[in-house]
Amino acid sequence: MRHQFNYRNQQLWCEKSSVAEIVKKTGTPAYLYSYFSIVDHFRQVQKAFKPVNALICFAVKSNSNIAVCRALVKAGSGCDVVSGGELIRALKAGANPKKIVYASVGKTDREIEQAVRAGILLFNVESEQELGRIDRICARLKKKQKVNLRMNPEVDPHTHHFITTGHKASKFGIDMPTVEKLLANTKRYPHLIFAGIHIHIGSQILEARPFKAAIGKALAVIARGRKNGAPIEYLNIGGGLGIIYKKEKPQKPSDYAKKVLPLLKKSGLKIILEPGRFIVGNSGILVTRVVYIKNSHGKKFAIVDAGMNDLVRPSLYGAYHEIQPVLTKPGSKKGRYDIVGPVCESGDFFAKDRTLPQLEAGDLISIFSAGAYGFVMASNYNTRPKPVEILVHGKRWDIIRKRETIDDLLRGEKIPAWLK
Ligand code: LLP
Repeated sequence: MRHQFNYRNQQLWCEKSSVAEIVKKTGTPAYLYSYFSIVDHFRQVQKAFKPVNALICFAVKSNSNIAVCRALVKAGSGCDVVSGGELIRALKAGANPKKIVYASVGKTDREIEQAVRAGILLFNVESEQELGRIDRICARLKKKQKVNLRMNPEVDPHTHHFITTGHKASKFGIDMPTVEKLLANTKRYPHLIFAGIHIHIGSQILEARPFKAAIGKALAVIARGRKNGAPIEYLNIGGGLGIIYKKEKPQKPSDYAKKVLPLLKKSGLKIILEPGRFIVGNSGILVTRVVYIKNSHGKKFAIVDAGMNDLVRPSLYGAYHEIQPVLTKPGSKKGRYDIVGPVCESGDFFAKDRTLPQLEAGDLISIFSAGAYGFVMASNYNTRPKPVEILVHGKRWDIIRKRETIDDLLRGEKIPAWLK
């Protein structure tokens, strides 16, 4: 699970760098990413889907630091973006626009124009209304644009309710009858090329069955669409590959590929994938320092210098993240701790009743599997500057985003003259 994060000589290493030595220089809380792990996970997906020469578009939302995106772009990745901001990040990272796909239920006119002008490969379109918008904007810009229809396949992926997207009541995608209707009426949108279908049924999915079911439905719709004259060449099967946080037994990309490749090969379609969590999830940790140990009503709290504002997954989804001290404590007694942050919310915790070697104020601890949906979901709640981000590559490491300062947070705010 930890891949490039290992214990040697009684301390935690990221690749060939000592985590304790790094944070001695940068301070805590700090996000640390392993370059090797990121690229290796990307290559696992790429290799698994090589038989169909799939285009892998890294889901930028999972970790959008431009250095992380750059590492993946250099390894051959495209980008899946969901906002004008992410599009700029992908371009800054050097992504080839012809390897960029753009999803989001709420694309604005400005964002659409920005993406068309950038020459992206495909929009993943989420409604009939959006199709009309993109068509009008393309008419004005005198451009033709390829689009994929994001189809809601009504498949239950058996994952956390908040990260399920392909069921009936979801705001995502277009229902199947409407997709079929649109594919039979492509002439209504003269500036669009109906190039394919997109499905993304959810995230942290551990088995192939729901993917297979969704792909089967997409292929049936594609076959009928083609009969009606739609020039379909792409099938985007989304992201969603699960990872190990605790004791999950997720399928490897190669297992997943084995299950779906026969279907995909037979279709002759160009295949796109949008993995995020699988590539960066276990490639990052959040390092934080214990500020206080507090005993209250027989319970032990380790209060650390990171908070829910830095990593919200435990608070938001009740997500489990493995936690261990950065320096091991051989022979130390064990204790049960709630690991909590300083934020003024009872929901501000990283773990409850977790058995750990005895902790003391000043100890460094690592929260594992924090590379996906970690920093990107951080906020400044309680006027807390966001942590530093560091990319480790063997023995070298670089700050890829400076720790925010209070000045960064206050920039842009002002007291109106009448209040002075
Ligand atoms: N494609 C689309 C259209 C998506 O909506 C997502 C994720 C992905 C690809 C990438 O999915 P992945 O391979 O990472 O599972 N914040 C939540 C996860 C939200 C996922 C949103 N969409 C979490 O921390 O678990």
